[in-house]
Amino acid sequence: MVKAVVAGAAGGIGQPLSLLLKGCPLIDELSLYDVVNTPGVAADLSHISSPAVVTGYLPKDDGIKHAFTGADIIVIPAGIPRKPGMTRDDLFKINAGIVQTLVEGIVQYAPKAFILIISNPVNSTVPIAAEVLKRGGVFDPKKLFGVTTLDVVRAETFVASLVGEKDPSKTTIPVIGGHSGETIVPLFSQAKPSVEIPADKLDALVNRVQFGGDEVVKAKDGAGSATLSMAYAGFRFAEKVIKAVKGEKGIVEPSFVYLPGVSGGDAIAKVTGLDFFSVPIELGPNGAEKAIDVVSGANDYEKKLLEACYSGLKGNVSKGIEFVQNPP
Ligand code: NAD
Ligand code: LMR
Repeated sequence: MVKAVVAGAAGGIGQPLSLLLKGCPLIDELSLYDVVNTPGVAADLSHISSPAVVTGYLPKDDGIKHAFTGADIIVIPAGIPRKPGMTRDDLFKINAGIVQTLVEGIVQYAPKAFILIISNPVNSTVPIAAEVLKRGGVFDPKKLFGVTTLDVVRAETFVASLVGEKDPSKTTIPVIGGHSGETIVPLFSQAKPSVEIPADKLDALVNRVQFGGDEVVKAKDGAGSATLSMAYAGFRFAEKVIKAVKGEKGIVEPSFVYLPGVSGGDAIAKVTGLDFFSVPIELGPNGAEKAIDVVSGANDYEKKLLEACYSGLKGNVSKGIEFVQNPP
């Protein structure tokens, strides 16, 4: 039996993500939590003829307790999105507290659940979650994931259109580092099968992957950021975690994790100087089984991108840790 929870389920990402989870035959119970509208979203989804039983909870009447208890996997897209002119870090003030409160709920009611964090700034909200779990004595680094799959999905899509590949999902591209601007580092040199990117197109391609989020924020013109592509990406990652837990082998997807807690991660953390970092992760029954080192294979061009990534990411990570250790 698999119980999946979406926290922030009534939002722009939460609703389509919940729809995709409801359609997933691997899920038996789908629990929706938000500060608004979950009874309506749950009633609507519950009419869909797939196996998952859907319930919706609000904070009143111990809603978080009922929503989280018994959860196997909790996906968190709760929090405010960007408007044009904002950075993801501008969301920290509000979203840090939201993520902290939700993870405190996880400590109390679902300490063994896999946790997938979508709320921005991911570079800081994942360290916040780790600190809260540590403080609660239930931190298992193999079970905490920052969802960076949208960067991977974008890299696949933009490369396919550049090289004329009809099916973008046929190319695997490691996208590593963090999830904002220059901290997002696509390693096109390690694409499988390999891709030939014309030298005069490489800078623009890298920039589009790094700032793909801004492209959507600008096009939505004040109405938020990526929701549908994120729901697709969040579902893709959640489904992979569930499949791996159920015993499927060979599943690898990049994710932003606490490297020292994942096999193979220590060596990568030494090279990058960062404990929180996204690399391809081999998933298994316990979650993140192995961190795969694609950093040392980076070419000179990618090494320069990585240098910029390291310096930006360091500040974002410490800001998250500091928020929990020395509350403002
Ligand atoms: P949204 O405003 O449409 O939805 C957010 C939802 O969170 C709302 O329904 C709101 O009621 C709910 N919420 C607020 N506080 C809550 C709390 N304490 N408990 C439970 N629910 C709460 O925003 P969105 O477009 O769905 O984006 C959500 C977040 O995801 C943003 O921070 C955004 O930046 C981030 N995001 C991340 C990625 C990524 O790649 N990781 C991609 C897109 C968006
Ligand atoms: C994205 O990459 O689309 C998200 O992180 C949302 C944003 O603020 O750009």
